[in-house]
This record gives sequence, structure tokens and C-alpha cells, in this order.
Amino acid sequence: MSFIRKKKKVAIIGSGFVGASCAHWILSHNLADISLIDRKDNLAKGRAIDLFSSSPLVKHDLQIQGGSDYGLAKGADIVVITAGLPRQPGMTRADLLSKNAAIMKEVCEQLKKVVSEETVFIVVSNPLDAMVYQAHKILQTPREKILGMAGVLDTARFKAFIAEKLKVSVQDISALVLGGHGDTMVPLTRLVSVGGIPLEELIKPKDLEQIVERTRHGGGEIVSLLETGSAHYAPAASVVEMAASILRDERRIFPCAALLEGEYGERGIFVGVPCQLNGQGLDRVIEISLNAEEQKQFKKSIQSVQATIQELNQIS
Ligand code: LAC
Repeated sequence: MSFIRKKKKVAIIGSGFVGASCAHWILSHNLADISLIDRKDNLAKGRAIDLFSSSPLVKHDLQIQGGSDYGLAKGADIVVITAGLPRQPGMTRADLLSKNAAIMKEVCEQLKKVVSEETVFIVVSNPLDAMVYQAHKILQTPREKILGMAGVLDTARFKAFIAEKLKVSVQDISALVLGGHGDTMVPLTRLVSVGGIPLEELIKPKDLEQIVERTRHGGGEIVSLLETGSAHYAPAASVVEMAASILRDERRIFPCAALLEGEYGERGIFVGVPCQLNGQGLDRVIEISLNAEEQKQFKKSIQSVQATIQELNQIS
């Protein structure tokens, strides 16, 4: 008797640069069928045909559909929400709050009608920690089924800048960035290792300080260079790293924005913490010991997320 594994499906809401790049990475990793959904029907359809036409070259037989109908998300194992306005130069992520909160509400109300209880949501829209909170408020899914993507991206930037400075392979860097997806994020320098060697033995403190600052402003650096829009290749690759761990039940550990239920002394907010992702979504939040300085920075980051949530609760 032959065993045919059911193909996985990912629905992506928003067909802008981030949504389209997610689709591109998912297909190039041969991960799942894709539905691209955008309120601009023709944009989603056009992107889907373009991606489909690449399949003989990228060598996969995955299906790609596109359009404005949320029915296309039916049967999705994962829904990635990228819908929202990108940051413009000079804009903070919080400036986007009210506009993107309204978009997130509308998107989640539509999604609620078509997804199953098994669907896992990965939220990407900014301001990230507030948008995943907003999505959860509408979707009311258990915390195992909803995560925000930010820590994987911030950690990837941190690793890339370290590897560049030390002239080593990015593959040999192990690192972790906690906290909110903003300027108060906490790159944990103490825990970085390079091929198993503690980073602090290999780098000058001044160089490390510069890398930490560049990581904290990594998104903003790209926004000011692009002049219109924000980063999309690395954010999308970060989504796909999380999605792969779920779709393939890899049980990998990444920093993700998860709903805290008492961990790190907090409750009721989403913020970047180490998470293990399995075939069901979030398997567990891992609590690690932080030293006094790290605790102080993490607390400051949590307070900044809480301030944004308060503002969000006042306007929506
Ligand atoms: C960034 C945006 C996506 O960090 O928040 O590039």
C-alpha cells in the first residue's frame, strides 16, 4: 500500500513585497501550496500566475492561487498575515498603529469565517507586537495557534552583522534577540556563540556595541535607504523558517512574539521570547535566566510594548 502524504497549504494575506517574498521562499523550499489573498484582486492573481510560471524552473508541483476571496484560505495549515501599510522614512512602527489596527481587524473578521481550529497564524504586520495582539483579540485562538514574527528577523540581522565583522560563516553563529520588535529589543550578547566559542572572547566590546545598535535599528536602516517601503527578503525568509518548523514538525527553537501567560512575570501581552515550534504551532515558551542588566532591558522593552497596547486599546 502506498502512503501519500497530504500536501500542506499556506495562505498569505497581503500580496505586497513581504507577502510575495514569503510565497517565493515557500515555493523555493518546496514547502506548501499557496493562496495569495489581497484586497487588490488582480495584484494577487497576477503574482500567483507569475510564481506559477516559475514552477518548471524552480522545479516543484505546488499549487498557487491568488485573488481577493478569503475562501482561498480554506484548508490552510498556516495563515501568514502581512496586510498593512509599510513604514515610510521618519515613521516609527507605532505611527502605523491606528491604520494597521483597522486593517488587521477587517482581515481577521474575514479569516474567522474560513479557517479551522487547527490553523496556525503568523502575524508580520507592524507594529508587530501590537498587531499580533490585535489579531488575537479578534481571532480568539489558543496561544498555541498564534505567533508574531520578529525575533527570528532581529536575530538573523544580529547574526549576519556579527559574521560580517568576524569574517566567519553565518552558520556558525548562535544567538537570541528577545523583547519587542522595536528600538528597545534585547540582543543577548552574553549568549552568542561562534562555533561554540563565546562571542565575547572574539570581539572588541566597542565593535559589539555598534552591532547591537545596528541590530536594534536594522529595519529603520533599510526603510531610510529604500525611501518607499521596508525590508522584505529577510522578513519573509524569517516567516518561512517558522512555517517550516511547523509544517515539518521540526521542533526548532526561535524567538517569536508569543502570548505570555505568566512567563517572565508577564501576562496578556505578546512579546519576543524563546519558543519551541512543533507540528501544532507553539509547543512551549522557554523561560531562561537573565542577569540584572538583561532583566532591566527586557522590562524596558515590555513597557514599550505595553504602552503601544494601551494606545491600541484606546483607539480600537
Ligand atoms: C523590519 C520591519 C519589517 O524590521 O519591521 O524590517
